[in-house]
Amino acid sequence: MAIHFIEAQSLFLLQAGPSCYAIKLTEHGLPLHLYWGPALATPATGVDVVRLGDRAFSPTLAGAERGVSLDVLPQEFPTFGSSDFRQPALEVYQPQTGSRILALRYASHRIEAGKPALAGLPATFTEKPSDADTLTLVLEDKLLGLRVELLYTVFAHHPVITRSTRIVNGGSALLELRRALSASVDFNASFSHHQFVQLSGAWARERDTLCSSLRPGVQAVDSRRGTSSHQQSPFFALSELGASEEHGSVYGFNLVYSGNWIAQVELDQFASSRAQLGINPFDFSWQLEAGATFQTPEAVLVFSPEGLGGMSRALHRFYRRHLLPAAWRERPRPILVNNWEATYFDFNSDKLEAIATAGAELGVELFVLDDGWFGKRDDDRSSLGDWVVDRKKLPGGLNDLANRIKARGVEFGLWFEPEMVSADSDLYRDHPDWCIHVPSRARTEGRNQLILDFSRAEVREEIYQRIATLLRETPVTYVKWDMNRHFTEVGSAALPPSRQQETAHRYVLGLYDIMGRFSREFPHILFEGCSGGGGRFDPGILAYMPQIWTSDNSDAITRLRIQYGTSLAYPFSTMAAHVSAVPNHQVGRITPFRTRGDVAFTGAFGYELDLGALTPGEKTEVKRQTAFYKQVRPLLLSGDLYRLRSPFDSQEAAWMIVAADASEALVTHVTTLAEPNAPFRYLKLRGLDPKKTYRVSIGGTEAVIAGDVLLHSGLHVPAAGADFVSHQWHLTAV
Ligand code: DGJ
Repeated sequence: MAIHFIEAQSLFLLQAGPSCYAIKLTEHGLPLHLYWGPALATPATGVDVVRLGDRAFSPTLAGAERGVSLDVLPQEFPTFGSSDFRQPALEVYQPQTGSRILALRYASHRIEAGKPALAGLPATFTEKPSDADTLTLVLEDKLLGLRVELLYTVFAHHPVITRSTRIVNGGSALLELRRALSASVDFNASFSHHQFVQLSGAWARERDTLCSSLRPGVQAVDSRRGTSSHQQSPFFALSELGASEEHGSVYGFNLVYSGNWIAQVELDQFASSRAQLGINPFDFSWQLEAGATFQTPEAVLVFSPEGLGGMSRALHRFYRRHLLPAAWRERPRPILVNNWEATYFDFNSDKLEAIATAGAELGVELFVLDDGWFGKRDDDRSSLGDWVVDRKKLPGGLNDLANRIKARGVEFGLWFEPEMVSADSDLYRDHPDWCIHVPSRARTEGRNQLILDFSRAEVREEIYQRIATLLRETPVTYVKWDMNRHFTEVGSAALPPSRQQETAHRYVLGLYDIMGRFSREFPHILFEGCSGGGGRFDPGILAYMPQIWTSDNSDAITRLRIQYGTSLAYPFSTMAAHVSAVPNHQVGRITPFRTRGDVAFTGAFGYELDLGALTPGEKTEVKRQTAFYKQVRPLLLSGDLYRLRSPFDSQEAAWMIVAADASEALVTHVTTLAEPNAPFRYLKLRGLDPKKTYRVSIGGTEAVIAGDVLLHSGLHVPAAGADFVSHQWHLTAV
């Protein structure tokens, strides 16, 4: 067992791979947070000493001696109203009395092998009980009969702890949850100089990496948009002052959730920092009937002594093994061509077949038909929800097109936006109350569309049947699941007034329900997530869909930042990236074809242009790219990522992917703006075996270089000679 309860000290020691987490129960039954960091040798003597001091304006916990105040104790699951003035993890309104006071105290605990599934929610999983151990710490509020179960799972081979909260109304009165977070960690004052690392952005420029010092008060990022969002990502890290990409302690937090979330750190008057993660309490409440249970989403907590790079590699390894759909995690993803930027809405079956045919000749394996194939959808003003093929564009129907494309030796994939309905659609005319809305209020449209109320089973059922029928009838092996607007006038026609603030979370539960259903019925289909690009790039979606369209921005240069930021939390295998035409449709930039390919070489590679319209030289390059990609694809799916140069810091970006046994690596370097009379440039590589010798090949030339030379002296990067030039080296151990 990796979880020990040392009764004499009332101490829980959780060994998470090479890291450790310690919780102590006080004589008052409060679970205190004592430690999280590098593994401690058992019995971790001294770790259980709790520092106390009588502080002015920090009232004494009722029944305790002076100096014991919740305002200063480091807690595992704080509540508000009985001497702690900091941010609580749980708020429960008690309608019978109007009280919001809670007194949660230890009741019992269980330590079990394995990891329980979370009712209704995606979560990381174990394949066999020996993968992980779970501690369930049960707290109770005796007055209310309320039970709060804190779940902690530690994984044998990963420096990861997952946490979630189960709240059970064991009393006889209705309770209203107003805040129910997944995790709360009180770091002691030695952490007050940590940096807060966040991933923030907007549509087409998702996940910029930002770093700032903690300051007294609350520092928060969140989403109130109904989805995890382009604007903020449900991830943050606390990195020790002076920590770098490869050195120093870093604590990462990520939420397995796709709706409204909050992540915050409160630095208090005594320099303790309380880090929290969970469903956003903003516009949330939940009626918990007597006997009912509420399960929070799962928070993933990771510790790295090796900087941000170590944190990312730990998360990537963990997600590849314990989050992504097992059937897909090591399965090569097909090289695809998507017609969106090639045609937008303007296509017919011949045009599509021509793109697929050109793709087949150039080594592409899958053709994806994007938006515009259904209803009368010649622009974004109509037809979402009416999943009936447009015979004007595709006279033979979907099957005919799919079969023509398959006859060329290319698989067929299809775009859907299942969660949406156009105001101009038969579905909306038949069921105007099936969308998220508030009666008697105007309905805000985004991209001319409304959001279907997936909190309602009958709405999900109708959409499931419409789409599943097509998937059953058509030889589809890939689905792009898009979602193109955020929530307004949040309300559900199926919920009573007292439950309207449950709508957003119930929607997410409904979304997971339908996604789970699709993946169970169609295990052969590769589902790719998308929300106007990377607007819902989160671990919740990744539990059903092993890859996500990283951004609608397909420009190789601005993509460097997006992919760099995304890679902080998510594996290379999850980031779909495509080569598109120039001038680029989002920023107008002209970049070399080669660079576009090198940047798009993630675990989910493809093209987003008219392959038939390429010059002979470009076609030769596509052939080279697809052949080479097939060679390195297993490495890109399973290798470890090392970020070597940040596009946020300089006019270059570089990264490498290394096989677990260090026998192979792919190194990529991109110059953004070329420098005149530049110094000779070297990249010190990482992750290689210093004792091995590597054959290093770049564009047809080869050299043999020792691993220690590559690690300690570096790999020479040729002069760029122009803006936007890339170099890519393939290393194989000899
Ligand atoms: C937004 C997606 O991100 C694009 O790739 C494309 O599928 C469009 N929607 C289609 O409407």
